[in-house]
Amino acid sequence: MLNPDQVVYLNGEFLALEDARVSVLDRGFIYGDGVYEVIPVYSRQPFRMPHHLRRLQYSLDGIRLGNPHTEAQWETLVRELIVKQPFADQALYLQITRGVAKRDHAFPPGVPPTIFMMSNPFPFPTRDQIDHGVAVVTAEDNRWDRCDLKTISLLGNVLMRQVAVDHNAVETVLFRDDRLTEASASNVLIVKHGGVIAPPKDHLMLPGITYDATLEIARAIGLPVDVRPIMRKEALSADEMWLSSSTREVLAITKLDGAPFGGGTPGPVFRAVWQAFQERKPHPSDASAHALNR
Ligand SMILES: Cc1ncc(COP(=O)(O)O)c(C=O)c1O
Repeated sequence: MLNPDQVVYLNGEFLALEDARVSVLDRGFIYGDGVYEVIPVYSRQPFRMPHHLRRLQYSLDGIRLGNPHTEAQWETLVRELIVKQPFADQALYLQITRGVAKRDHAFPPGVPPTIFMMSNPFPFPTRDQIDHGVAVVTAEDNRWDRCDLKTISLLGNVLMRQVAVDHNAVETVLFRDDRLTEASASNVLIVKHGGVIAPPKDHLMLPGITYDATLEIARAIGLPVDVRPIMRKEALSADEMWLSSSTREVLAITKLDGAPFGGGTPGPVFRAVWQAFQERKPHPSDASAHALNR
């Protein structure tokens, strides 16, 4: 449900969602010409904000758009938006587009970017998803080859996600030329013989902040971690397969293309990493989140 009174940020102002207006000539609307970030916030504490701001800079560099703010300025704006929300656990969305200009593919000279931020209640995974895992489908990754940039041009990802929805699944796991890349809005990791294996960060996948956190946590609890290309055959015969993202945290895949996967139940390595993840992130506030952590 849209809340028209929700406080959002647009171009230097905090204002009600219903008053936030952008020109139809904005290049985000016309071309999908912009980048974004989603920062998880627990108990009003952003999790790994410096990592998100660094990736934002990487995406901006990748599309040749200047960063309108320093890291310190971003941090101030992000924290201001967080305190203006009536809920404590949030998923903060931040977007920068190449601004408003007469329609022409070439970059418009001297146009200020459009900066938009909103923060919504954190969409915690359900107890059922954590305890029993989630269903995915697989598909050929047909997106462009700069998937390392977090751009708002997400049509490829949108179409891939809908394939999952059409099959009552939560995600679509993608393979390009038989190599595991990621999923429509998550990274994918596998487990074999007790060790975690993750595809290397390259131009074919988003360098996930949760992917990094998950690998760090796996190493911290003493698990072997191997970062290397994963072929379809290896992925599909893995002992466990996980999704990672800022809002899903880490979730086990227990059904793949309609058949049980990994014995149909979250595996022991997932359980250990999930628990360690919960212990390392800032403590959430919401009653539902407390219930999850019991
Ligand atoms: C395509 C894609 N891959 C991976 C991720 C996970 O990234 P992060 O852990 O930084 O949320 C996302 C997040 O939305 C995504 O859209």
